[in-house]
Amino acid sequence: MRGSLTDSHGMTALNQKEFARRRKQLMRMMGPGGIAILPAAPVKLRNRDVEHDYRQESDFHYLTGFAEPEAVLVLIPGRKQAEYILFCRERDPLRETWDGARAGQDGAVADYGADDSFPIGDVDDILPGLIEQCERVYYTLGVSPEFDQQVVSWVQQLRSQANRGTHTPQEFIALDHLLHDMRLYKSRAEISAMKKSAKIAAQAHVRAIKSCQPGMREYEIHADLIHEFRRHGCAPSYSPIVGSGPNSCVLHYNQNDRLMEDGELLLVDAGCEFDYYASDITRTYPVNGRFSPEQKAIYEVVLKAQYSAIDKVRPGNHWNDPHDAAVKLITAGLKDLGLLKGPLSKLIKDGAYSKFFMHRTGHWIGLDVHDVGDYKVGDEWRVLEPGMVLTIEPGIYIPAGTKGVAKKWWNIGVRIEDDVLVTKDGYDVLSDGAPKEVAVIEKLMARAGKVA
Ligand code: GLY
Ligand code: MN
Ligand code: MN
Repeated sequence: MRGSLTDSHGMTALNQKEFARRRKQLMRMMGPGGIAILPAAPVKLRNRDVEHDYRQESDFHYLTGFAEPEAVLVLIPGRKQAEYILFCRERDPLRETWDGARAGQDGAVADYGADDSFPIGDVDDILPGLIEQCERVYYTLGVSPEFDQQVVSWVQQLRSQANRGTHTPQEFIALDHLLHDMRLYKSRAEISAMKKSAKIAAQAHVRAIKSCQPGMREYEIHADLIHEFRRHGCAPSYSPIVGSGPNSCVLHYNQNDRLMEDGELLLVDAGCEFDYYASDITRTYPVNGRFSPEQKAIYEVVLKAQYSAIDKVRPGNHWNDPHDAAVKLITAGLKDLGLLKGPLSKLIKDGAYSKFFMHRTGHWIGLDVHDVGDYKVGDEWRVLEPGMVLTIEPGIYIPAGTKGVAKKWWNIGVRIEDDVLVTKDGYDVLSDGAPKEVAVIEKLMARAGKVA
């Protein structure tokens, strides 16, 4: 789902110049003699003849903005006749009556900036001849076994004709290696889409916070989130997690059907996709609108850890600095509450906190919710640079029955997650429209008339 600024043909709101700029940049890195080949996402069946909603593959979208399946992008830097070739479906009035408009070959050139376009049915006849003119094939192996097989068959075809003087490329290079590094640095247009995505998701969290009360089912909160996403033309960027009571401690819970009771916490992890760009926000709050002393104590530890981690987001710092900060404050907080015992430095060194905080503090975010891009360069954590966007999402989870932990702490699961842009001199929290201070959450819930 593409967000409200897409037109009825699924064309993205980003200016076509942005896609052209990306193709140019990639082609500059490939240099003459290279050919890049990238297939569109296949249509996937959900059950029998029912299809999943179609969503273009992120790399393919990044380079084309083309939203149809059954397409192949080919880039051949320096080729005189055409550098950018798009194979795609032909126009078909009968099929279009059922499934909607297709760009066709004319549309690929006129609307999507292709230098040339051919019917997808001709790809086996045309592509081997294009590969033959090149020395290096840029292609990402291992994503689609079917397409891998097709690429291998084109190369085999060239090899088998070697005695007729046919040329075969010498090198295969991973296309994603170049592309994913480009995707890590967000342009102005991308940042603006990500801000919008985070703003809509934050509004969805506010709506959920306001409507939450004991006696509701988790799926009613889920419905609030979806309502807010859809009314802005967005869809979820992943299955929302709406976990109350014991479910707040299940990291990937998404059944979302439990009756929420007085005195429990609710953990909601939900984001949307606006014009292909993901948001990913978690908020945790009391079902009845008032934190109990134990819930509040754990919550404040996580919140402090999150602030401290966010404060480490700035150019020149390393990828792991926010995580180290979160670990330090979570360990100290758990020690202060008596949930961990021993010298702080030893607890950190031994990873004692991982009994309660068992995931990392964040991930890159962009076209994919867990976005592409290396976290290390060689053996070193990556240095943060302006334009990178990451999540900061520390948590503490204490399931019922946790050994050595008094019962009053059980079923408290807290995660607080924001989307953070690295700016020239620090950071910008894109998702700050969703409140996270205890007093602000309690006031919001009280105002909504949910607290007696
Ligand atoms: N919603 C998945 C994550 O937080 O990474
Ligand atoms: Mn996340
Ligand atoms: Mn999340």
